Amino acid sequence: MEGNKKVIFSGIQPSGDLTLGNYLGAIKNWVKLQEEYECYFCVVDLHAITVKQEPKDLRRRTLEMLAIYLASGIDPEKNTMFIQSHVPAHSEAAWLLTCSTYMGELSRMTQYKEKSKNSGGNISAGLFNYPVLMAADILLYQTDLVPVGKDQQQHLEIARDIGERFNRLYSDTFVIPEPYIAKLGAKIMDLQEPNKKMSKSGENVNGFILIMDPPEVIRKKVNRAVTDSLGVVAYNEQQLGVKNLMTILTTITGISIEEIEEKYKGLGYSQFKKDVAEAIVAELEPIQKKIVEYTANKAYLEGIYKKGSEKANYVANKTLRKMQKKIGFIPR
Ligand code: TYM
Repeated sequence: MEGNKKVIFSGIQPSGDLTLGNYLGAIKNWVKLQEEYECYFCVVDLHAITVKQEPKDLRRRTLEMLAIYLASGIDPEKNTMFIQSHVPAHSEAAWLLTCSTYMGELSRMTQYKEKSKNSGGNISAGLFNYPVLMAADILLYQTDLVPVGKDQQQHLEIARDIGERFNRLYSDTFVIPEPYIAKLGAKIMDLQEPNKKMSKSGENVNGFILIMDPPEVIRKKVNRAVTDSLGVVAYNEQQLGVKNLMTILTTITGISIEEIEEKYKGLGYSQFKKDVAEAIVAELEPIQKKIVEYTANKAYLEGIYKKGSEKANYVANKTLRKMQKKIGFIPR
């Protein structure tokens, strides 16, 4: 470990195309935090298979995700980037933690409840156990801080509970992690239904912006974004569509909400929407070019995830061995 830097762990599922929500809620913060912390950024392919994945798409998306991390500015020299399934300790630790996790607490997870509601009863045990695997991800690295979007807050709370319980049962083993959820941008909303979070599984394609959407598509989607008839660029709960566009603009440009309100006073929505679209395009266009370059360079990506998994395996195994020993397994 490098010096006394605190540890960050975070990950994204390679289960669909990444949205502007994932980028602003997670990756953009990682980029900011990477200097100050020792960071592990994982592509969580084990999580992705909680719902059926087409093998060739999973392979492509896993590498693409790594390319997105790099293209967004995560420095491979300073951070550990790896693929979750390359570190078997995640699956093993998840089992050990499963045995001290309660069905009751897992059934209270909002994301599980929502997903099972629409499943017609055919929901995998993996989707139910998913938060335990996430707890394993985090706890194995003695993580201090987990930068995620708001939708992961509950999963982080249960990760803390699981870690605390293990510490109580078997003596201190894990650092108990804190969430890092930004004040603005932690929940980017759907452009068509601004009371719902923007999601890669959203039904209406105009509701989400994908990281790889070409500029003209971004412009079209922002232009069609639902607003209201008040015609005032203001940040409040009555104008969820406008509020969301303001959030996007402020997280990308750093211009404050007050400055945005001031700038568009009396101007209506047309120029405001144009500026939001241009800000997104200016942010994503250079990243898109790099994603294409990195994706084409398989050997480079392989070098990164191999080096990453070496380090991750080393650190994760150390914690796993502690867990096994405390539980009472015979050392190998
Ligand atoms: P995932 O893959 O669904 O999402 C990746 C990250 O994007 C954030 N996010 C958003 N942020 C703002 N606005 C939105 N509309 C939005 N949608 C998604 C998510 O909060 C997340 O930070 N279980 C996790 C992956 C995971 C993980 C971990 C994260 C597995 N193990 C350990 C942290 C630590 C997930 O499914 O994220």
